Amino acid sequence: MTTPPNPDLEYITAAAAAALDEGRRRLDSATTAAQFSEAERDVLGKRSALATLNTLLGRAPQADRKAAGAAIHAALVALREFAAELSGDWEARRREERISAERLDLTEYSAGPALPPLPGTRRGIGHLHLVTQTRDELEDTFVAMGFTVAEGPEAETDWYNFEALNMPPAHPARGMWDTLYLRLGPPESVLLRTHTSPVQIRLMESGQLPIYSVMPGRCYRRDTPDARHLPVFHQIEGLVVDEGITFGDMAGVIESFTTAFFGPDIHSRLRPSYFPFTEPSAEFEVTCPICSGSGCRTCSGSGWIELGGCGMVDPNVFAAVHVDSEKYSGFAFGFGIDRLAQVRAELSDMRHLLDNDVRFLTQF
Ligand code: DAH
Repeated sequence: MTTPPNPDLEYITAAAAAALDEGRRRLDSATTAAQFSEAERDVLGKRSALATLNTLLGRAPQADRKAAGAAIHAALVALREFAAELSGDWEARRREERISAERLDLTEYSAGPALPPLPGTRRGIGHLHLVTQTRDELEDTFVAMGFTVAEGPEAETDWYNFEALNMPPAHPARGMWDTLYLRLGPPESVLLRTHTSPVQIRLMESGQLPIYSVMPGRCYRRDTPDARHLPVFHQIEGLVVDEGITFGDMAGVIESFTTAFFGPDIHSRLRPSYFPFTEPSAEFEVTCPICSGSGCRTCSGSGWIELGGCGMVDPNVFAAVHVDSEKYSGFAFGFGIDRLAQVRAELSDMRHLLDNDVRFLTQF
């Protein structure tokens, strides 16, 4: 349509209606956020058809100007409203586009081979933590040797954790364990158990003899985490109480366990030590499972790894739980499950066990 030199009301009204239609079509046909912004500029900006029409008003017949101006304004308002409606959708789309562009692809860390594309997705299945697997294996080994499995509470009283284990208040051996106390009852009367030995007391206290049991569980110490220590860790305790149990029985059980758990090439040996709840006491060592005894970094070249403590149950402990030490004798042992897992998996740092890094965990 060519513009007449003196556009009248009829011409301007028709031109405004056409600009409105064309403007709506342009806005509606945008397929990307950028196209929409461009269309908005073209149909509502300074160089738009409606803006140009406005400049023609001055040349319109005097009598037509007011009505013609109103027609242009009405078209402009209608087009702005239409654009505003669409612009909300585009804003939402822009956000979605930005979010999906910034999205991190975590599938790189998923277990197993990459998932196939649709249809049919496979779920990545988790598994037990290395420490839990080790605990389960230990339990299985001892159960196969005729032991039962028992558990006790993690929050203990001073009596079970120390006193009944032949450590009266202020006994210097209490310093072997940096203890975390709970704000419960009189000061320092309730604590987080520093070892699994209190479960021995609970078992013997129940009065059901003989006892052939292992007691795995979580323990706590006021330790700073480092390559070989965690403030929250796991131990497994063993206790045998029966008539005529000897130190030789203890050495035999430890040796049988060692070969059953690690394999026939790995053996055990005992070294004199001290624990308040056993007399005599020993530390037990096993052939280094990494180098099979020839000497490596893990065993500092000695060929042996120290695993835990053991000994014959002290008569004072029997007295605390009213077991007749004239009739019964027994032995006990205890060692760290996390430490064992560390040695077997050759972990340079125990803290990896707590990092929750899927790349570490899926190796086991
Ligand atoms: N409870 C000891 C600790 O935490 C380990 C231990 C040593 C347990 C000797 C025993 C034992 O049962 O007889 O270091």
